[in-house]
Amino acid sequence: MKFFIDTANVEDIRKANDMGIICGVTTNPSLIAKEGRDFNEVIKEIASIVDGPISGEVKATTTDAEGMIKEGREIAAIHPNMIVKIPMTTEGLKAVKVLNAEGIKTNVTLVFTSNQALLAARAGATYVSPFLGRLDDISVCGTDLISEIVEIFQVAGIETEIIAASVRHPMHVTDCALAGADIATVPYKVLEQMTKHPLTDQGIEKFQKDYIAVFGE
Ligand code: E4P
Repeated sequence: MKFFIDTANVEDIRKANDMGIICGVTTNPSLIAKEGRDFNEVIKEIASIVDGPISGEVKATTTDAEGMIKEGREIAAIHPNMIVKIPMTTEGLKAVKVLNAEGIKTNVTLVFTSNQALLAARAGATYVSPFLGRLDDISVCGTDLISEIVEIFQVAGIETEIIAASVRHPMHVTDCALAGADIATVPYKVLEQMTKHPLTDQGIEKFQKDYIAVFGE
C-alpha cells in the first residue's frame, strides 16, 4: 500500500515528502478553505514539492456535469500530475466519462458503498476514494467497505486504484493495508503517530546512555 498525504498545508507536505514516505497528495474543498489561500497558488506550490499525483477537487458549489468538466480541464491544465477530484453523483459520473475520454485522470470522492465505487470505476475513474472514518462515525465499519471494494475490483479485473480516505488513526492505516487498498491518504498527524513507539524511544535512550557511559558525549 502506498501513501498519499491528505492536506493542503504545504509545510506538512514538505515534512512528509522529506521523509520519503508519500508519493501523492489529496486535497478537498474543506482542506483548501482551511489554508485560506488561492486554490491555484496552493496547488502549484504542492506540485513543486511532490512529484506524484495531486488531487484537486472541483468547486464545492459546482454540481452540474458541464461545470465540473470545465473546471476539471482547468485543474488538469495546472500541472501534468493533477488528478481531478469529482464527487460521487450522477452528474459527477458524466463528468468522469468525458474527462477520462480526454485523457484527464479523475478521483471519485465521497464513496460510501461498493456500488458507488463500481459505478465510478466503470465511468472511467482513475481512483476511487472510500471514506472509512466518516463511516465509522455513523457506526458502519469503514474497513469492511475497503475489503468489499478490493474484492469486487479483483473479481472484475478493474484497474481503478482504491484510495482509502478519511483515515483518522494508525489502526485505520493497518486495517486498510490488510484489506488491500492500493493507497491510503493520511493526514500528517497520523503519519507522525505511525512513526512512534514507546519502546523505540526507550531503546534510543538506552543506547545513548550506554554509549555515553563508555565513550562520553
Ligand atoms: C479524501 O480524499 C478526503 O480529503 C479526506 O480523506 C476526508 O477526510 P475526513 O473525513 O477526515 O474529512
